[in-house]
Amino acid sequence: MTEVLDSSAAFPAEHQPEDAHRLAGALQTYRYDDKTVRAFLVATYVWGIVAFLVGLYVAVQLVWPQTSFGLEFLSFGRLRPLHTNAAIFAFAGNALFAAIYYSTQRLCKARMWSDKLSRAHFWGWQLIIVSAALTLPLGVTQGKEYAELEWPIDLMIAVVWLGFFGVNFFMTLKNRRERHLYVALWFYIATIVTVTVLHVFNNLVVPAGLFKSYSIYAGVQDAFMQWWYGHNAVAFFLTTPFLGLMYYFLPKAAERPVFSYRLSIVHFWSLVFLYIWAGPHHLHYTATPDWASTLGMLFSLMLWMPSWGGMINGLLTLRGAWNKVTTDPVLKFFVVGITFYGMSTFEGPLLSIKSVNALSHYTDWTIAHVHAGALGWNGFMTFGMIYWMLPRLFQTKIWSPKLVNAHVWLGTIGILLYVIPIYVAGITQGLMFRAITEAGQLQYPDFVETVQAIRPMYMLRILGGTTFLAGALIGGLNFFMTWRSRPRVYEEPTHSAPALAKHVAIVDARPEVLGTGIVAAASRLANWTTLWWHRGWERLPLKFTVLVIVAVAVASLFEIIPTFLVRSNVPTIASVKPYTPLELAGRDIYLAEGCYNCHSQMIRPMLAETKRYGEYSKPGEFVYDHPFQWGSRRIGPDLAREGGRKSDLWHYQHFLAPGEVTQGSIMPPYAWLSDQDTDFGSIALRVRAMQALGVPYTDADRAGASESAKVQAGRIAANIAQQGGPPGLEQKKVVALIAYVQRLGKDLFEPPPPGPAVPPPPPAAKVPPVADPATMPATQPAATLPATAPVAPPTTTVTSTTKPANAEGGNR
Ligand code: HEC
Repeated sequence: MTEVLDSSAAFPAEHQPEDAHRLAGALQTYRYDDKTVRAFLVATYVWGIVAFLVGLYVAVQLVWPQTSFGLEFLSFGRLRPLHTNAAIFAFAGNALFAAIYYSTQRLCKARMWSDKLSRAHFWGWQLIIVSAALTLPLGVTQGKEYAELEWPIDLMIAVVWLGFFGVNFFMTLKNRRERHLYVALWFYIATIVTVTVLHVFNNLVVPAGLFKSYSIYAGVQDAFMQWWYGHNAVAFFLTTPFLGLMYYFLPKAAERPVFSYRLSIVHFWSLVFLYIWAGPHHLHYTATPDWASTLGMLFSLMLWMPSWGGMINGLLTLRGAWNKVTTDPVLKFFVVGITFYGMSTFEGPLLSIKSVNALSHYTDWTIAHVHAGALGWNGFMTFGMIYWMLPRLFQTKIWSPKLVNAHVWLGTIGILLYVIPIYVAGITQGLMFRAITEAGQLQYPDFVETVQAIRPMYMLRILGGTTFLAGALIGGLNFFMTWRSRPRVYEEPTHSAPALAKHVAIVDARPEVLGTGIVAAASRLANWTTLWWHRGWERLPLKFTVLVIVAVAVASLFEIIPTFLVRSNVPTIASVKPYTPLELAGRDIYLAEGCYNCHSQMIRPMLAETKRYGEYSKPGEFVYDHPFQWGSRRIGPDLAREGGRKSDLWHYQHFLAPGEVTQGSIMPPYAWLSDQDTDFGSIALRVRAMQALGVPYTDADRAGASESAKVQAGRIAANIAQQGGPPGLEQKKVVALIAYVQRLGKDLFEPPPPGPAVPPPPPAAKVPPVADPATMPATQPAATLPATAPVAPPTTTVTSTTKPANAEGGNR
């Protein structure tokens, strides 16, 4: 059975190619490299447990913030990126490498091209993970979700991914002994090329030291690139390789050929082409251009069909084998996994619909969605694969089949116990954020009320996460015990197959054309739709790869070029000026502490939002934000208009002990910010990096950066002391952070600078030139307002919501 599925025979008989090529090549022998696969498998499990544990720990902090013990390395903002990076790049990453190394060799009838590259890939990737695990808790971060790792690690990723893994993979394809590329390999090709493109373009930065860099994009454009990357990381890191995994391991486990060859072609190409467009659905109602987010929505909706094509192809592969599902735990994992894939890929398009998104965005709904996908789809497909591989790779029996079953159940119950409460939490929160009383006031004006309302759900989530983790730990025990009973020396069977002859003309069996005239035309069309011609492509990996690149590039450029070139996308606002050197340093503290994991800086044009936070955000307000900090989640309130709402002293006390200032707050205490000194020495370097990006600082600004920062810090420290706080804080980080927070959102209401062109238009960056002062403050066209929640006319909003008068007032 095994050999049959390794070849193109997984397809219906009529699609079999002429096997003439085999006659030409000489018989060769080879062995598979399973050592690397075993290594990736162990790494998958170990890092998986780490990712789940860190996730559980930060979930505990959201109920009991004191469990961070006031330690900076343990605080939510720093550990949440560790959790997401570990889950994606360490757990799912190692799993997809294990799947690809195992199946590619068998599908190509060839050992991986280079053992050295395999080893370099394995150890290089583990080094990257360890570097991430060390730097993220230290606050070394680019401040972009799922792309937090700093530039030296990013360089390592590029080298290991493309230089080691990619080269090894494509050379193996080149030296294969099976002419035909099985569908799993198509998905691997798409994964490798697209992830390279995404990673490189989203991580283009200007370094300001070894552990610090600034995105070359700013504001709207940075947001656009980030979500082009972010959404496609889901598509090409968590979806395509796992579909490849499904196409290989599911037919193996079920001992059934894939349900439909044609469906696999159609859903492969539609996924590759459509996914790339969908990113902007993460930016509905934000300051990004409306056309982009609408396009994102349309393509997301279209994605539903190919996604379900994949699900159906998976589930129907089990036709006639469902009796096996009841007895084989591997198939149970796969069935649950594919079912979650179906649910997540239905929910994804749903969430991309603007009116749904208006409710779900910034809430836990998104968190529930990603966990259904990550735990259900990625997690269960991985576990299924692991249990399938364990006896084969360690050449022994699974230690306890009963425990495998226990893992299925604990895992499934764990996921449900996680996602159901978090769905409830998300919707509750979304409704509370927008609830308006009959008198037209916010029903829950204190943000912290919305935090407290979902606390019980957060507790249930901890239970769900613990159950899921318990399943994984039991699996870990089973893994370990199985490994212990391995033979002293692994058998390495030798296989043989003829080499592929070069230049063999293979003629695909072209279906016959029937009749003449219109009948013949119809017959030709019918023949075309059998996709018999695709067979030819599947023998040509280079052509196939180029076609994938073209599909991805066309879709990307269609969106990226207008986003960068159309000036009216970002109407400029003359009163928006660069941050002062101290504010810039404070912003870097904001990034390092990962405040964006809890706070957004993007007020959407909706009544409830403008009432709660003030005038909605304009694209022109973010032109100096390298990187943007719009956030994606509101565990705390939006901070886009925080400047001037509270006194310096309030902020100081709040950072020291948020729970004492706001009853029921779950913001972590930041005591170390009042102990540690601001690094005034490096500020000039930071200003210079910003200058390189086109932010209009003068050389005098740069030369005097450290001095002017100290002067501003002295003013704020004096303020705090005068308001009754402790004296002598001017050197402390907390003061720099306060400087930044107090600046947020204020420029819009400053009077326009006198004279026509101050500051001069930045040359290098994609920042549009300064507009005529007469056009400001720029407002967005009313067309972007949702019908459900009309916004108050901007003029009244401006005056009614931004008075610093509510300083010291209630918490929003
Ligand atoms: C675990 C999530 C979390 C993290 C991380 C977090 N916050 Fe908060 N933040 C909250 C919550 C919840 C509130 C609302 C309750 C309160 O006032 O403390 C809040 C409130 C605030 C407020 C008051 C807003 C207002 O006007 O009412 C500010 C300012 C603030 N946070 C800044 C920050 C900064 C700066 C950081 C990073 C150093 C940060 N927060 C990190 C959750 C978080």
